Amino acid sequence: MVVTVEEELEGLRRIGRICALTLNEMAAHLRAGITTGELDRIGERVLRSHGAQSAPILAYKFPGWTCISVNDEAAHGIPGPRVIQPGDLVNIDVSAELDGYWADMGATFVVPPAEPKRLRLVEAARRAQQAAAAVVRAGRPMNLVGKAVEAEAKRAGFKVIRDLGSHGVGRHIHEEPHFIPGFFDPKEQRRFEEGTVVTIEPFLTTRAIHTRTAADGWTIRTIDGSLSAQFEHTYVVTKGTPIPITVLD
Ligand code: CO
Ligand code: CO
Repeated sequence: MVVTVEEELEGLRRIGRICALTLNEMAAHLRAGITTGELDRIGERVLRSHGAQSAPILAYKFPGWTCISVNDEAAHGIPGPRVIQPGDLVNIDVSAELDGYWADMGATFVVPPAEPKRLRLVEAARRAQQAAAAVVRAGRPMNLVGKAVEAEAKRAGFKVIRDLGSHGVGRHIHEEPHFIPGFFDPKEQRRFEEGTVVTIEPFLTTRAIHTRTAADGWTIRTIDGSLSAQFEHTYVVTKGTPIPITVLD
């Protein structure tokens, strides 16, 4: 969506804050021994308590309130009986809707004891997300996002998944502009427009640049079993620094 009036910004901020509260509460309970299904029920409880609906359920009938992706799972992991193990790399992605406004965020954590390489991957993914968000500005080319992500990944010795990207959001979970690449694509000629609501969500890996969907029809894994980490926030594009939506006040 393109934000044109203050009321729309307020609606986005309400659901963005709820996503942040939900992800924080789930992260606070993340530990070895908990199941991904238990974590998801914590997310469900927080979202319901604010009257929010799960975006993946509402839009795609996804079998979970949130997506929880472990180790080589990059995205859309289905919460269930899987028990979190010491050292697991866990991505929690919370996207939700309230009053017709949609927001999307994600973060990746390493369950102690953390292998140094896994921590480095998580920190590189966090820096790539921040660096990419910092180049977003009305009038600028969208391919600056991929350039910024690749620079951070390369610096840290990691790769970028090419078949997952950032996207428009706001009135639906996935809307125009579709698929903003996390790698530099010279064919990407679009520019950011003022007021557009977008996610910025790079996926960094220890090796793979491609993924495949598992037999369950949802879970997206790296093609070679290498590890993946993602961070994601929703923003409103401005002439200056973009306005972060998926944050606490
Ligand atoms: Co997401
Ligand atoms: Co997203």
